[in-house]
Amino acid sequence: MVPQPVIDRCTCFDRTFAEIKAAMPESTTTLEAITKRFGCGGDCGICRPYLAQMLKTGETVFTEILIREDLEPPAPRCTGSQDSKKCARG
Ligand code: FES
Repeated sequence: MVPQPVIDRCTCFDRTFAEIKAAMPESTTTLEAITKRFGCGGDCGICRPYLAQMLKTGETVFTEILIREDLEPPAPRCTGSQDSKKCARG
C-alpha cells in the first residue's frame, strides 16, 4: 500500500496552513493577502493551490496533490537588476 501524502504547510516559510488560518483576519479572502502578510505562496508557489483551497473550504490538511493552472505564479523575487514593480521583495 502506497502511503498518502500529507500536505499541511508552506515549506518555504515553514508555516502550517492551520497556523496561517488561525492568524489571518477573517476579512482575508485572497491568496495575495496571505502572501503579503505571511510570505507563503510568494516563493516557489507550490503551496498556492492549497492556500486557495483553504480559503475556499477551510481545510488545512490535504492528502491529494493539487494543481491549479488558473492561479498566477508568484512574482519573481527581486535580484536588484529587475524592474522592482514586477518582482516581490523578500
Ligand atoms: S511552499 Fe509555499 S512558497 Fe514554497
